[in-house]
Amino acid sequence: MKNNAVITLTGDRPTGRLHLGHYVGSLTERIKLQATAEQAFYMIADVQALTDNADNPDKVRNNVLEVALDNLAVGVDPTKTTMYIQSLVPEIAELTIFFLNLVTVNRLLQNPTVKTEILQKGWGLSEIKETNGILEKTENINKPGVPAGFLTYPISQAADILIMKSNIIPVGEDQKPIIELTNEIIDTFNRYYGEVFSKVKIQLSETPRLVGTDGNAKMSKSLGNCIYLADSNEIIEEKVMAMYTDPNHIRVEDPGNIEGNVVFTYLDIFDPNKPEVLELKAQYQKGGLGDVVLKKRLVGILQELITPIREKRERLAQDPRMIMDILKDGTATARKTAQATLAEVRQAMKIDYF
Ligand code: TRP
Repeated sequence: MKNNAVITLTGDRPTGRLHLGHYVGSLTERIKLQATAEQAFYMIADVQALTDNADNPDKVRNNVLEVALDNLAVGVDPTKTTMYIQSLVPEIAELTIFFLNLVTVNRLLQNPTVKTEILQKGWGLSEIKETNGILEKTENINKPGVPAGFLTYPISQAADILIMKSNIIPVGEDQKPIIELTNEIIDTFNRYYGEVFSKVKIQLSETPRLVGTDGNAKMSKSLGNCIYLADSNEIIEEKVMAMYTDPNHIRVEDPGNIEGNVVFTYLDIFDPNKPEVLELKAQYQKGGLGDVVLKKRLVGILQELITPIREKRERLAQDPRMIMDILKDGTATARKTAQATLAEVRQAMKIDYF
């Protein structure tokens, strides 16, 4: 059965606290969508987190609560959004097994998201080459290999999305290739087994990617260039004061560059007073405006944004039992939908025996 109502779904890997990159890239869209969607799902992707943290179960376990707190603190509302834990919905794993047959290994190896992550982690990829009909394996023996579970996580993510029959996926730009793969899986599934799934759409925010405080293209925990939603005012100040600006802007009277200047990039995103930002830019380019003045402005803006989130987070953190109860209830609800979808899938695949 196809469904045209908006069913939104997104998730986080519980590997660390959420930061401003998550906030502008996906959290704000989640909050908007939960108000308008027919149904909203938020999944804590502990199974996906384990694909590159198999040796660190404590980290994944502890961060389940942290990401739940981050989401609740920014306004994900458990009465509107079903919040649940991936591993407690085993139907997702079952659907993943069926989807694995619909994607080639080569297609996975081409996935830009997976490729970037493999490079970042310093994993080696072996390649099978054919020369004159002879298969040859070239292996990068100096690097640890890629876990099979990691290579296939985009397929499992397609199952995350489709088990709930969701169609609008608010995620950051880096997730685009995974959403494309999901649509390819839908095409193949429907062709082999009949029309069960409808196409899905990514919903990008106005700021799908946030540069790191160091000027790196992406704010990322592994790069150590993040401002977290739980950061204190002191830490926010410290991080902003150390932000990358224009290395050639040495004296206040020197003309400065706004291109690639992180402080201006952030002011463009977070400063509500756009006309003033324009004036500041002109002044900075002309010379006579110091970095410290700008940074102080940004400190104030970010403190104002993060303080209520941090305070709500601290309040909620005092009752972890309550948070786990929210996840427990959400999981029970999510599982019902998952079971219904899986029954339909089994029937379509002719494996509904008794
Ligand atoms: N891969 C996503 C991330 O790293 C997390 C995720 C898992 C997800 N399953 C999902 C996002 C399903 C959207 C839909 O941020």
